[in-house]
Amino acid sequence: MNEGNDTPLEPEDAARLDKPVDLIPKSALPYRPRVGAPLDLLVDLNVGIVLGRSESFHRKYRSAGLGCIGGVSETADDLLLSLMGMPVNLDLMSPHVMFVAGKRGSGKSYTLGIIAEELALAMERKEIEVAAVVIDTVDVFRQMVEPNSDQSELLQKWSLTERGFPVNVYIPRRTYISLPDEVKKKARLFPLSIGPRELTVSDWGYVLEKGGSLSTAMENLISEVLESVRRGYAQESGERVRLKRDFSIKDMIACIEQNPSIDELYKPATKMAMIQRLKRADRLGVFHPGGTSAQDLAVAGQITVIDVAPLGSDAEAVLAILTNMLCRQVLTYRMAWTDEGTSAREELPPTWLIIDEAHTLVPRAGDTPAKDAVIGYAKLGRRFGCSLVLCTQQPSAVSDDAISQADLIVSHSLSHDNDIRALQQRAPAVMPDQFKDKVFISSLPRGVALAFDQSTENKRGFIMQVRPRLSQHGGTDRLSGLFEAVKLLTPEEPADEVDMEPEDYEEDLEEPEVGPEEQASEDLPEVPRPPLKLSKDDWKTLDGWMKQYIEELFQHRSQELDLTDEPAPRDAIPEEPESVVPKLEHVPITDLDPTDVQIRRFENIPKTLLSKASMRKVLYSRTSHEFLFTSEDDFRDQLAVERSGVQADDFVSAVARGIQSAGLELDRLIHEDGFTFVCFRKNGLRAAFAVGVTGEAFCAPVVVISSDRRLVERAVDKIRAALQGK
Ligand SMILES: Nc1ncnc2c1ncn2[C@@H]1O[C@H](COP(=O)(O)OP(=O)(O)OP(=O)(O)O)[C@@H](O)[C@H]1O
Ligand SMILES: [Mg+2]
Repeated sequence: MNEGNDTPLEPEDAARLDKPVDLIPKSALPYRPRVGAPLDLLVDLNVGIVLGRSESFHRKYRSAGLGCIGGVSETADDLLLSLMGMPVNLDLMSPHVMFVAGKRGSGKSYTLGIIAEELALAMERKEIEVAAVVIDTVDVFRQMVEPNSDQSELLQKWSLTERGFPVNVYIPRRTYISLPDEVKKKARLFPLSIGPRELTVSDWGYVLEKGGSLSTAMENLISEVLESVRRGYAQESGERVRLKRDFSIKDMIACIEQNPSIDELYKPATKMAMIQRLKRADRLGVFHPGGTSAQDLAVAGQITVIDVAPLGSDAEAVLAILTNMLCRQVLTYRMAWTDEGTSAREELPPTWLIIDEAHTLVPRAGDTPAKDAVIGYAKLGRRFGCSLVLCTQQPSAVSDDAISQADLIVSHSLSHDNDIRALQQRAPAVMPDQFKDKVFISSLPRGVALAFDQSTENKRGFIMQVRPRLSQHGGTDRLSGLFEAVKLLTPEEPADEVDMEPEDYEEDLEEPEVGPEEQASEDLPEVPRPPLKLSKDDWKTLDGWMKQYIEELFQHRSQELDLTDEPAPRDAIPEEPESVVPKLEHVPITDLDPTDVQIRRFENIPKTLLSKASMRKVLYSRTSHEFLFTSEDDFRDQLAVERSGVQADDFVSAVARGIQSAGLELDRLIHEDGFTFVCFRKNGLRAAFAVGVTGEAFCAPVVVISSDRRLVERAVDKIRAALQGK
């Protein structure tokens, strides 16, 4: 027992805050299987489990920028090692790529809603300022404006209160213009449109033909039509149709009917077929000059829901094109900053893109208009402050290029072997054998998920019960009925002139006519900084630039890039804790008989886990908790005294003397669960310690509490000094 002993005592970083976080009650966690593998996670006793952060990052920001998404819902063989009921908090401050999986009805979309809610709450608390865009194919996120009154009882168990959030909801323009103004206002609706100029020939393929497979003749035709409307063309009468910087589908149809060069080249049947398809696309009411831009959708401090459900079976192609646009635009804006040293970045905040049903957009096999853009965003986004949350029923059907970027995976129940295997292959943390069992993973109840975090502090995946939603999730409401009615009632040819012209479109129309060459060179930006609205040519340039950028980046670095400002979590060097060595020999004996103190023995576990488990015991055991915490206004500080190769009795006496040196007097012993809490008190101060041991290593967590913060700080300083021999 000399200072040269190679096992120093470690003080736990002082948490000068109030009560430890309340555990989620068992009644709220009905599913709590026992898991054999030890659970070692980043635990902050003031907030709970922390996902997506390194310990040093968390030390800097503490509870700021965290969102509580659920609670730990597994127990351990040794109950004292269990983290059961600890709230699970997700880092919302730094960018992440998150993947949410689960079979039909397992609670995936609900979990996405939780993330959106927590982003909104953290923004209300002014802890973060981001934009969140939720892409909703099945009409379940729009209802976030309403409180979750269907699950009041469940919310009560979690001590949560139902409420709605002021999300902005973009719905297809056609549906939007047909709704009464009061409805638009109440449901916070906005019109969503895509400028036809944004679409490539291949995009048009997906819009006009399921699966994107246009015949060669049709493909040539659409390509020529696009070229003609962009450049302008002469009609048979000799009258010239001016070039337009943006155009409508009607302009495209007019071109087929009136441009003599097209008329000559294509068979009437081809032209008819094309016109019919274009009319059908026009009836979707979503293609409109001007189009909604990333800047309309990604607004700082705002949650935006893009609800394409009213498009029905046509939603897929539109959604893919829209997602492509969004990913590229957001990324380009965010990237432009670093290259230029100026702030295109400020025009677009860090963005969280939340995509439900991602397998349709980023499939493993085959292509969609969105695939490359989403993968590019997943690979590069984090570097530029952008986060991505992808959700799918079938992890095995999603492109591996996207999943492999995930630093966080939340998987609900899965039942297909392929999907379970895909999860195993990509889980960014250790997956206990128990989780790999098909029977186990396929029988996870709805709302329960396995959570895996890449950060070194969170060693293995664990079982989490996702918390209930504060706001409403899905469900049919009056608006769903209205959407249906609009679909039935809207005339074939929508009234295009309904005071909806975006300002910039009108500006575009007023531009003087210029020759095609002149225009092309005029449109090409000198520097790759995106203008407010991007033309086709802008995109070409920017895409080329982005592609080159990505290639260079990946040439120079391995695929395993960590894209945050933080050091790569796996390489992070844990901070060396300040060492405290007790001078056991020099402290006088007290009247505590150390043999009365029961020391809890743990099977061979790491020392960090011993420290965490014993500290939790002192804070959460009912008896010690009751002794320590007498009011809501208490302040707490704590330290963990660690020592190897000492006599148990000497260790107990030394710790007790350390506490007494701060003026605290022995009050009582409380025996519980193989532990004894040694309790002290004096003038409003209360303290307690208990001792755990694994192998040769002892740990005594000491907790000091009072309603007077200064008293606590002074006492802890004294205890620490006594145990350090200062
Ligand atoms: N954490 C939870 N707490 C309480 N209820 C939940 C939870 N998760 C899901 N539910 C319930 O389960 C229902 C289905 O969940 P959800 O819509 O998220 O399923 P899904 O996995 O997205 O299914 P699908 O594949 O059909 O889209 C929800 O409407 C909700 O009532
Ligand atoms: Mg869903």
